[in-house]
Amino acid sequence: MVDYRKKIAQLLSGAVEGLTTEEIESMVEIPSDSKMGDYAFPCFRLAKLLRKAPPMIAKDIEEKIRGDAIFEKVENVNAYVNMFLSRKEFVSTAVTEAVEKGDDFGRSDIGAGKKVIVEYSSPNIAKPFHIGHIRSTVIGNSIYKIYDFLGYDTFRINHLGDYGTQFGKMIVAYRKWGNKQDVIDSPIKTLLSYYTKFHVEVENDPSLDDEARAVFAKLEQGSEEEVALWKWFREESLKEFNRVYDMLGITFDSYNGESFYSDKMPAVVQELKDKNLLQESQGAQIVDLSEYDLSPALITKSDGSTLYITRDIAAALYRKNTYNFHKNLYIVASQQNLHFQQWIKIIELMGYDWAKDCVHIPFGLVSLEEGTMSTRHGRVVFLEDVLNRAVEQTKQVIIEKGVNTENIDETAKMVGIGAVMFNELSNSRIKDYVFSWSKVLNFEGETGPYVQYTHARAASVLRNAGEAAVAKAASAKVDFSKICTDSCIELAKLLYRFPEVIVEASEKYEPSVVTRHIVDVAQAFNKFYHEEHILVDDEEEKVAKLALVIAAKNTIKNGLGLLGIKAPERM
Ligand code: ARG
Repeated sequence: MVDYRKKIAQLLSGAVEGLTTEEIESMVEIPSDSKMGDYAFPCFRLAKLLRKAPPMIAKDIEEKIRGDAIFEKVENVNAYVNMFLSRKEFVSTAVTEAVEKGDDFGRSDIGAGKKVIVEYSSPNIAKPFHIGHIRSTVIGNSIYKIYDFLGYDTFRINHLGDYGTQFGKMIVAYRKWGNKQDVIDSPIKTLLSYYTKFHVEVENDPSLDDEARAVFAKLEQGSEEEVALWKWFREESLKEFNRVYDMLGITFDSYNGESFYSDKMPAVVQELKDKNLLQESQGAQIVDLSEYDLSPALITKSDGSTLYITRDIAAALYRKNTYNFHKNLYIVASQQNLHFQQWIKIIELMGYDWAKDCVHIPFGLVSLEEGTMSTRHGRVVFLEDVLNRAVEQTKQVIIEKGVNTENIDETAKMVGIGAVMFNELSNSRIKDYVFSWSKVLNFEGETGPYVQYTHARAASVLRNAGEAAVAKAASAKVDFSKICTDSCIELAKLLYRFPEVIVEASEKYEPSVVTRHIVDVAQAFNKFYHEEHILVDDEEEKVAKLALVIAAKNTIKNGLGLLGIKAPERM
């Protein structure tokens, strides 16, 4: 697509002496008020260089460039050169690209040949997969999709919390109070209840703790019976997680979690020792990080067992050796900020310059309207229940509104689950937020249903227009002078920016940049829809407007796709 900023910089460089085209490009602004032009060039910085007053410079430049065909007009106002693009030429550029590229509109290859690991979701085995986990899952999925669309060679990892001393407790509890069928019927709820019972019983009988430690040691040594039980817990839990992933349409390339690194731990501990990073403290091995204002990192306990952080160090080393990543991204709650600062610092101290390529992408807390979640107080909202309820409530709304759809269950699923996902991706990820049903399922406002509905509305316009007219609109023979009104231009400007917005989202690891942009597109589309009659008698005008509808529909669909959300044709 024509890059107008570049093009303008080139024109200006013919009219300005003493600055490179790149310098000029970085100085070109987009005025916040479109009355001041589509682009503006401030001349203050040139005064010294050219020994002339800025308004004079602006006037000279204006005279030199105003004749170019890309402009409708060029004005000089004080020290600024204000440039107005030719509407027809601009609309033609934006709409043609969005129509022709279709599902690939916004795609690029800027990431070609660069491996990016995206680690997300990573729930703990035998622990609830709750509304708190939705954040990592949905944000990570979107970041993966954004990087993938930009041509990066992505690899998705679910770093399952499937290892640690708690499995010793779980096995002991299962042997004492467990029932196989209950675990099969409802693995996570059942296993969790054993775990809770263990914590109650251990108060009266501390020897349970010793028993659990002994069992975990056996598990670590590969004792057949313990390993088989642990494997079974893991499989049953995964089945339950996978039900949720299926509903969300989310997949992974690897489920290598903490346990995968258990046999890689001795080498890591040895390397830390060899590099003189370990210190003994009350029988435990630590890395002192006080010089960096961080608390010490506990690498091995006094009994020799390793910890969460040791496994993260091992995982990072393994990933570098196995995938040679360009970037290794971790979408993990901000509560773990310290943990990530510690181990990434340790990687750096080990002498690996790629420590800087390991990036923790934190996000804020979700709370419920009735308070923060607490597993211990039974205030936990299972993600699966949330999704089911969203689908159920959406179905009710669809019935109440008398929405015309062929398959009500299919639509309710797309919209209900889409609404929950969209809600997650609407705010800057770092913000804490309160989960609210009424907000999530609103069909107006800046919600998922609103954007999906706008997509379905565009699809409906195209159906009503008939195949012949749509085919003509999709061909190159469109008279763009027919769509130069304000509402058309506003919409076209947003379509034009879509590819840049995706790059911006990738640089900031921030899917909400895409979310907000497609809300803007949907709003601009609806304004155009209400202000302009689309299916007019004038054939040329109708076809041009349909081209704009196709372009907007493609943009919304691709934008939703980057969020992991489906775009319904009818709703
Ligand atoms: N399993 C952890 C939890 O639920 C999250 C794991 C995050 N990833 C990591 N590499 N430490 O809190």
